[in-house]
Amino acid sequence: MAPYSPRQADYPIDEAFLSRWSRRSFSGEAVSDADLKSIFEAARWAPSSMNAQPWRFLFAKAGTPNFDLFLQQLMPFNQAWAKKAGALIVALSYVKMDYQGQIVASPSHAFDTGAAWQNLALQAHKLGYNTRAMGGFLRDQARVALEVPQDYDMQAFIALGKAGPVADLPADFQAREVPTTRKPASEFVFEGKFPG
Ligand SMILES: Cc1cc2nc3c(=O)[nH]c(=O)nc-3n(C[C@H](O)[C@H](O)[C@H](O)COP(=O)(O)O)c2cc1C
Repeated sequence: MAPYSPRQADYPIDEAFLSRWSRRSFSGEAVSDADLKSIFEAARWAPSSMNAQPWRFLFAKAGTPNFDLFLQQLMPFNQAWAKKAGALIVALSYVKMDYQGQIVASPSHAFDTGAAWQNLALQAHKLGYNTRAMGGFLRDQARVALEVPQDYDMQAFIALGKAGPVADLPADFQAREVPTTRKPASEFVFEGKFPG
C-alpha cells in the first residue's frame, strides 16, 4: 500500500508533481555517475532567456573530500540530515549575459536557474532519487571555500540521494518528514491585472 500522502491535486496533472517531495531522510548510498549524468542532462534542457543557459552546477559525491567541503558550507540544521545524501550539489547562476554582442546584467538568471533545478529534481525523482534544496548555507564562507567568482550568484545547495529510513533522522526532523501541501491556485493565479 502506498504511504499516506496529504497531497491531492484539484485538477488533473502528471502524477510526478505530487509524488516528488523533498525528504530529509537519505540512505547514504552513492549516486552512480550514469545517474548523475542523466540528472544534469535534464537540467541542461531547461528554457532560459535568449537561451543563455546561465545555470552552473558544482557537485560532490558522498565519500569524497569535496563532499566534506560542501557539507561544511551548510548551516548546522541542514548538515544534520544532509550528511547522509549521496551527493551535494550547488546551483549557481551567471548574473550577466551577452546581449547583441554586449555583456549586460541578466534580468532572468535566477528564474532560468530555477527552471534548471526543477528539471534536475524531476529527473532525479524519475530515477528513484530524492532531492531537497537548501538556502540555509553560509553564503560568504561558501563563496570563498568553493572559489565562486563574484559574477555568479549562489542560488542553493541541493541534497541528492536515495531515500533512507525516517528513524535514522535526528528526532526533531522525524515528525516533519511528510509531504507538504499547497495553497490553492486561486490564491496565486489571476486573470487580467493584479488584483486590488
Ligand atoms: C530555494 C530553496 C531553499 C530551501 N532551503 C531549505 C533549507 O535550507 N533547509 C531545508 O530543510 N529545506 C529547504 N528547502 C526545502 C523547502 O522547504 C521545500 O521544498 C518546501 O517546503 C516544499 O516541500 P516539497 O519540496 O517537499 O514539495 C528549500 C527549498 C528551496 C526551493
